[in-house]
Amino acid sequence: MESTWKAVDEYVATRLLGEDRGLIEAKRRAGAAGLPSIAVSGLQGKQLYLLARSIGAKRILEVGTLGGYSAICMARALPEDGRLITIELDPRHARVATESVAAAGLNGRVEVRVGRALDLLPEVEGPFDLTFIDADKSNNPAYFEHAVRLSRPGGVIVVDNVVRNRTILSDSPDSSAEGARRLFEAVQRDARVEATVVQTVGEKGYDGYLMAWVLAGL
Ligand code: SAH
Ligand code: DHB
Ligand code: MG
Repeated sequence: MESTWKAVDEYVATRLLGEDRGLIEAKRRAGAAGLPSIAVSGLQGKQLYLLARSIGAKRILEVGTLGGYSAICMARALPEDGRLITIELDPRHARVATESVAAAGLNGRVEVRVGRALDLLPEVEGPFDLTFIDADKSNNPAYFEHAVRLSRPGGVIVVDNVVRNRTILSDSPDSSAEGARRLFEAVQRDARVEATVVQTVGEKGYDGYLMAWVLAGL
C-alpha cells in the first residue's frame, strides 16, 4: 500500500504543484544540512497555502520550523504586509530556515524565533488568522491552548501528525501518542472550538491532521 500512496502523491504532485524555486532550494538546503526529512510533503504544503489563501490570512503562527518548508508554503499566501512568526528550538534548524526563507524572498514577511515553544509562546503577540502546530507532539495540548488564546475569533488551527500510523488507538506510553490523546480530550472539552480530523496517506505514510475553527462569537 505504501508504495501506491507514494506513487499517487507523485502523480498528483507532478500535475498540480508548480516549480517553486524557493521550496526546491529549501528542501535541498535542509537535506545538505542533515536535517531530518520530516517536513510536510509538497501536496500538504500546498494545502496549507490554499487554506491560508482561502481565509485571506494576514497573520500566521507556526510552532516547529525545521528547515522552513511549511513556513515558506504558508508565507507564499501572505500579502506584502502579512506576517508569519515561526518558533524553532534547534538553532541549527532555525539558521537553515532563515537562509531558505531569505532565498525564497520572504525575509520581510517571516520571522524565525529560536527557543522552546513553551517559553516563547507567552511572549508572542496575536491575534493570528492561522496557526500550524508541528513541533514536539507531547506538548500539543499546551500548544493548542496557546493557539486558541492567540487566535482571532474565526481563526483556524491545524495540528499535524495526530494519527501517526494509528498510534492514537494504542495505549502505548509513547509520549507523542499520549500527546495526541490528551489533545483530543482537551479539544472535546473545549467549547471555544469546533474541530475535525482528516486522515491522510501519501509519501509520508499514514497519518492525519486536526483542523479546528475558533468560534467567531467569542
Ligand atoms: N513544520 C516543519 C516541520 C517541523 S519538524 C515543516 O513541515 O517544514 C518539528 C520541528 O520542531 C523540529 O525542527 C524540532 O527541532 C522542533 N521542535 C521540537 N521541540 C520543540 C520545542 N519544544 N519548541 C520549538 N520547536 C521544537
Ligand atoms: C514525523 C513526521 C512529521 O510530520 C513530524 O512533524 C515529525 C515526525 C515522522 O515521520 O517521524
Ligand atoms: Mg509534522
